[in-house]
Amino acid sequence: MVKCRIRSHVVIAIITTLLLGGVPFCRASEAPAAEGRRTLSLDQGWRFHLGDVTEGEKPQMSDADWRTLDVPHDFSIEGPPGADPATMEGPFDRRSPGGSGAGSLNGGIAWYRKTFTLPEDAKGKRVCVRFDGVYMDSDVWLNGAHLGKQPYGYTGFQYDLTPQMKPGGNVLAVRVNVQQPCSRWYSGAGIYRHVRLTITDPVHVAQWGTCVTTPEVLDAAAQVRVRTRVQNEGEAGVKATLTTEIVDAGGKKIAEHQAAEQIAAGGSHEFDQTLKVATLRRWSIENPYLYRALSEVRVGDRLVDRYETSFGIRIIEFTAEKGFLLNGKRVQLKGVCNHHDLGCLGAAVHRRAIERQLEILKAMGCNAIRTSHNPPAPELLELCDRMGLVVMDEAFDEWIIPKSGMRYGYGRFFDEWSERDLVSMIHRDRNHPSVILWSIGNEIKEQAAPNGGTMAKRLADICHREDPTRPVTSGCNKVGPALQNGFIKALDVLGINYFVDNYNSQRGQLLVAAETSSALSTRGEYGLTLKPDGQVAINMRANNQCVSYDMDRPGWGCTAEDSLLALKNAPWVAGEFVWTGFDYIGEPTPYGWPSRSSYFGIIDLAGFPKDRYYLYQSQWTGKPVIHLLPHWNWKGFEGKEIPVWCFTNAESVELFINGKSLGSKDFRDTKSLHLEWKVQYEPGVLKAVGKKGGQTIVDEVRTAGEPARLIVRPDRKRIAADGEDLSFVEVRIVDKDGNLCPNADNQITFGLEGPGTIAGVENGDPTNHEPFKAAKHKAFHGLCLAVIQAARTPGEIRLSATAQGLQSEPVAISVSPAAGR
Ligand code: GAL
Repeated sequence: MVKCRIRSHVVIAIITTLLLGGVPFCRASEAPAAEGRRTLSLDQGWRFHLGDVTEGEKPQMSDADWRTLDVPHDFSIEGPPGADPATMEGPFDRRSPGGSGAGSLNGGIAWYRKTFTLPEDAKGKRVCVRFDGVYMDSDVWLNGAHLGKQPYGYTGFQYDLTPQMKPGGNVLAVRVNVQQPCSRWYSGAGIYRHVRLTITDPVHVAQWGTCVTTPEVLDAAAQVRVRTRVQNEGEAGVKATLTTEIVDAGGKKIAEHQAAEQIAAGGSHEFDQTLKVATLRRWSIENPYLYRALSEVRVGDRLVDRYETSFGIRIIEFTAEKGFLLNGKRVQLKGVCNHHDLGCLGAAVHRRAIERQLEILKAMGCNAIRTSHNPPAPELLELCDRMGLVVMDEAFDEWIIPKSGMRYGYGRFFDEWSERDLVSMIHRDRNHPSVILWSIGNEIKEQAAPNGGTMAKRLADICHREDPTRPVTSGCNKVGPALQNGFIKALDVLGINYFVDNYNSQRGQLLVAAETSSALSTRGEYGLTLKPDGQVAINMRANNQCVSYDMDRPGWGCTAEDSLLALKNAPWVAGEFVWTGFDYIGEPTPYGWPSRSSYFGIIDLAGFPKDRYYLYQSQWTGKPVIHLLPHWNWKGFEGKEIPVWCFTNAESVELFINGKSLGSKDFRDTKSLHLEWKVQYEPGVLKAVGKKGGQTIVDEVRTAGEPARLIVRPDRKRIAADGEDLSFVEVRIVDKDGNLCPNADNQITFGLEGPGTIAGVENGDPTNHEPFKAAKHKAFHGLCLAVIQAARTPGEIRLSATAQGLQSEPVAISVSPAAGR
């Protein structure tokens, strides 16, 4: 493998989206005069039917009794209406063919239909429908005519509606077919990402039609190469003029290039323009500076298309000695793997929910995301570009050989679809400066197959052909066989999953720890039990829970601490992607039913940090961190020795129980990354006082009394009246003095008035079977979450939370015409 130095770039086409406020279809009267391209949201007012229907594609079929809903929509978390309580608990089905790996949530066949009228000015234009992702195996028809099929549920795709379009009503029908088991984790089901119509002149920039690279990046200046494919779908040849402008983050034009070309009817031309950025600001994790390329296509004097591509200028490089370099400086990848579900919102995409996840991760010091194990929602990459996180963008979890029991996995489609799906991912994502690696797969079974090397080379070659600016990797857990059959030789960067010995044995290659740790924990669980001899033991697994000390892991994993230490000792490895940042629905290793979500997250399914969060924060940030565990409510343990841990980056910490010093500890006497005491339990205040660079930092846990009230805290008190924006509301059960009650699991009932809805409820307990879509939910270790979604009308939401005998002050969330961010 060679040293891989990549001068590069860039981002995605951001296309202005016009949301037709509150109307179930597009009406000409509400649309501005057309000039160039228009993009209309097609999210609102779909009809939905769970189960198969005959002739669902025929426009004359009546869907009047189907449910009306907006997409993104995930039908899997809803459970079937009128479910059989003998096998179902909430939406969870212990006989689900997907098994607990898929969260015991069912797939099946479902239909969506959308009736819409095109704006008058769409006459003579090309109209395309663009799906960011439909899970899965979808077929789409317009007015009864079949437009196409897209088996892989994570690939974005579009169809040309023009030939079938009618001036009156049009019926778009989508059938999805989620046969299980098809996924090792919770996939979601349905039109779970956004849908848009694009209306363009017959002469227009093609789908994902720009490619921005930076062939030369100097200290002060850069060359920006913009390749733009312009398509002529008209009936006559045209001379098309393309003007490309580069605009800085302040909106100032800093470069311009114009070129003209004759394009035959039905043909296309790729313009290749090089522009100079004279005063360069590079994209980095600390300063994710973004430029825009504005492409204007003219035929004669007429502006026929206007297209925008956001991009950043940076140099990425992987080296065998120093790992990953960004703009010439070593950056340790402090990354996490995440699946795509958003907890109680299921797989349905919500930009704000992704943004919140990234905010929580960034505050922990995380700077990298692996989109395990599939192409992400486009929103994730847009946010990573803007917020300064780098991304390992992954295509597949499976090639041809299925993973254990995956009867309906991707293997069924691989031969026919893998090139198309991979190319779609690269074309869609190649302009994002955040993307630093293409991954052709995770723990692919063909690592150990005789033809594995040939197959890996074929996919890596496709990546290099489509984008020579980024290295190709794969998450490997069978390094021995994969070295032998040429699988690893096909990669630019070897992605090591677990097996930290490989950091040493593979030294000299370009390495990234693509998957690490898999530590298991449940927020708030400590498993403390009294043994017959009166000693306190930590019972690591009981009641389908795992403890929140950093102790538990599956056979192939290691504790978070061991993984951090292994990486510290191997600075030639580019860094790690911890399995996982957030808990996700499904894969409840080490348990099965009744568990329905994972224990791997550093953060639970509701978004509440587990103790391990502070271990990473203490190691991954420079900010002072001190965090004590466990909680301090151990009735019945009086006088017994409780294991107390402190995650900190202080040089030394002195521990106090009710004001009495239990002595100071520091890291000189330990190889581990936490400090530990045994403390004779007495109720009261356990306090840690740390010294860090002359500064004093403190954490304390207090014995809480009985639950007395609820504290309700929205993360945002002002959200946009766009029908999509969210406020994440945390409910804390506290005693009369405001201390969190760590054992409280009261049922919380939410009341909401005003322009919004409760989009989901969750508490972080992987065994909970209450529905995610409800106005009530139990708390878990004192906490509960409600996600409030804005309506499209401004006003004020009044939210209340009550539990038996406990009240909260009602909270106001203002829903304003302007975004509240
Ligand atoms: C890995 C796998 C992940 C997840 C993880 C759990 O081997 O790549 O998808 O299953 O194990 O520890």
